Amino acid sequence: MSKDLNEPPLPAFRWSPRYGVDAPAVPAVLGAAGVACCLAAAWRRPGSIAMAATGAVLLANAGVYLHTTLHGKLRIWERELDRVGLQGNEQLLDLGCGRGAVLIAAAKRLPMGRAVGTDLWTRDQSGNSPEVTLANAAAAGIADRVEVRTADMTALPFPDGSFDVVTSAMAIHNIPSAEGRYRALDEAMRVLRPGGQLLIADPWSMARKYAEHLDQGTLRPLGPGGPWLGVTLLHAVKER
Ligand SMILES: C[S@@+](CC[C@H](N)C(=O)[O-])C[C@H]1O[C@@H](n2cnc3c(N)ncnc32)[C@H](O)[C@@H]1O
Repeated sequence: MSKDLNEPPLPAFRWSPRYGVDAPAVPAVLGAAGVACCLAAAWRRPGSIAMAATGAVLLANAGVYLHTTLHGKLRIWERELDRVGLQGNEQLLDLGCGRGAVLIAAAKRLPMGRAVGTDLWTRDQSGNSPEVTLANAAAAGIADRVEVRTADMTALPFPDGSFDVVTSAMAIHNIPSAEGRYRALDEAMRVLRPGGQLLIADPWSMARKYAEHLDQGTLRPLGPGGPWLGVTLLHAVKER
């Protein structure tokens, strides 16, 4: 059968960015423990109701966690980036960018600017790599304004005052020592220009200490908008 030359061409295939699962061991352990409890309850031994209830709670937690990491956090960052009041020409740095969830959401708002992501590609996110982040940026249609660097956020390879905005989502708390986390905060402040904005999302217990260390900033729980329980946004502005 001959092809009709007047037929419109098929649209070019374009896949959607995939941002992976943060700390993938967490939902895996919750899910496995939940299934184990439910199976044990099915044996109808004494205490099986409590066991079934525990299993249900663990499975619900795994579900909430997966929803948050796959969908909720993206929605929340869309909202937070809208609040920053970007002009569209800023230089933005995302610390621990992973597969680019925040980096790419920011780059979409910077048609005349640039979004740089740094990461060490540890196991704190499934399948993270510079290639995946750049492929996600290409899939989002903004690869021309995204740059990815392999760099430790405790020793950033950028001059003082080179960014208008620094963001970091669920990454600084992965640095094992308090000293390392404070060094990352000092580095974030160093590379910010005077008047630049710092936005960090991390567990409340950590975000509170970051604000104490910086001796400035406001803390705001991130929600509703996704079941991202216990995560807090620290927003600070570098002194002029
Ligand atoms: C939980 S993931 C979050 C990724 C991304 N911010 C997001 O919200 O999708 C944390 C990321 O921080 C990175 N990371 C951990 N320690 C780091 C360090 N010292 N310097 C740079 N990146 C780091 C990990 O490799 C991982 O990609």
